[in-house]
Amino acid sequence: MKIQVSPESFLQYQGDAVVVGATEGVPLAGVLAEVDHALAGLVGRLIQSGEIRGKQSEVTILHVPGKLPAARVAVAGLGEAAGIDLFRVRAAMGVAARLLRNRGCRRVATTLHEQAGEGVRTDQAVRAVVEGAYMGLYPGGECKSQKEFPEELEELCLLGVAEQEREHASGAARAGRIVGEATNYARRLVNLPPNEVTPSRLAEAAVEAGERAGLEVEILEPGQIEALGMGAFVAVARGSDEPSRLIVLRHRGEGDGPVLAFVGKGLTFDSGGISIKPSDKMETMKLDMAGGAAVLAATRAIGELKLGVDVLGVIPATENLPGGRAYKPGDVVRALNGKTIEIISTDAEGRLILADALAYARQLGATHLIDVATLTGACIVALGHVAAAVMGNDTALVEAVLDAGESAGERMWRLPLFPEYRPQLDSNIADIKNVGGRAAGAITGGLFLREFVGDTGWAHIDIAGTAWSDKDEPHQVEGATGAGTRTLIALAERIAGGVM
Ligand code: BES
Ligand code: MN
Ligand code: ZN
Repeated sequence: MKIQVSPESFLQYQGDAVVVGATEGVPLAGVLAEVDHALAGLVGRLIQSGEIRGKQSEVTILHVPGKLPAARVAVAGLGEAAGIDLFRVRAAMGVAARLLRNRGCRRVATTLHEQAGEGVRTDQAVRAVVEGAYMGLYPGGECKSQKEFPEELEELCLLGVAEQEREHASGAARAGRIVGEATNYARRLVNLPPNEVTPSRLAEAAVEAGERAGLEVEILEPGQIEALGMGAFVAVARGSDEPSRLIVLRHRGEGDGPVLAFVGKGLTFDSGGISIKPSDKMETMKLDMAGGAAVLAATRAIGELKLGVDVLGVIPATENLPGGRAYKPGDVVRALNGKTIEIISTDAEGRLILADALAYARQLGATHLIDVATLTGACIVALGHVAAAVMGNDTALVEAVLDAGESAGERMWRLPLFPEYRPQLDSNIADIKNVGGRAAGAITGGLFLREFVGDTGWAHIDIAGTAWSDKDEPHQVEGATGAGTRTLIALAERIAGGVM
């Protein structure tokens, strides 16, 4: 898809469609009023009759032969005028792009970036529009033999960009493309079936991504993982015949500033192991590498964006299966940092592989640790499928993550790591146990991880509820969402820009 910025207005654009935003309440304002004028009052009449309401993600396609050089105008709802923000602009562009693509349009322009609300910078709005288009166009159906629609449009043109804004807006559009493609890359990795995305195949994908984005990539095999002393990771991997991998990506920014380490849970399939899960919906447990996919996709994007910050991506990748040599409840394992862990449930495996990966990222010189994981069902109980949970030992870093999430259009909410929760993880036989009971399950997951980060600043993002969407939504198809990807990129941008 060619992303263009153009000084043209909708009066000049010669393509298949122009997407224009409409707000609820007073729909006929701004650009839409100009469109109405050009269409001799058609938009006003449709508002009168209730066909155009401006509701978020409602799109009305008008065929306008002879009235405008473009064949169609798509009026995309942005909701109440007072509350317009980048979330809504992304979603509106996503719905419109998808609908127009499915109706055979190939060349589409938009004014949505001019309608992103007061106080929104043009570059942010441009980027959100482009990101929204990519996310909306993601087709799903990864393994279907026949594709119903082309994946992309030929062209997306952002209208009304004045000459003096051109360079800035083009840069933002390019960033939007890189970030949108990264999000979809993460989605594809998660959606692909677990017999295709095995740990070794995920490692191959990382090597390819590294070549594309100029990253250094190192892949550690089971012997090396064991030799390093990663007893917790090794234990989880024992139940599967698929060999595990530890994927390490490196992006070198300039200078010797902070080293931001992203650690992503890479369970390519989580059956629960000996503490086996119920079979109903077990197929969705291919999503358990969504944190790893976010880390891989974000690090790829950071390389492509050439951000001036050092980034490490660490992805422990394995299956969790109940094979004959599988680890068992009652086992005690020793993690890389020397701590002993009593296994209560083999289904609390994510925290085990992350424990070793976090400790390893510190050995590699991380100054800031961020882990992303589909860690707990309890996170879904707490925040549903709307928001990810954020926890950490460093308030400034947690706040930077929340802030990054906000600008990236990903809802996140902080949970506390109060010391009163910690006794839930006390073990009689070892330093800690891997399950803290039903109460505050997302928090005890976070508290477990905290034992492995020492005094390094650390934030944990639990994306169990947000990594997967159970239903087709107007702005995105059912399946993987790419959760975490855009937040990690936005965080790296912040730190490259001197925040922290
Ligand atoms: N991968 C799951 C968490 C999960 C559940 C992610 C549903 C997405 C959707 C994780 O490995 C797990 O099984 N967690 C257990 C932990 C428990 C045994 C302490 C859980 O949440 O039940
Ligand atoms: Mn599990
Ligand atoms: Zn899991």
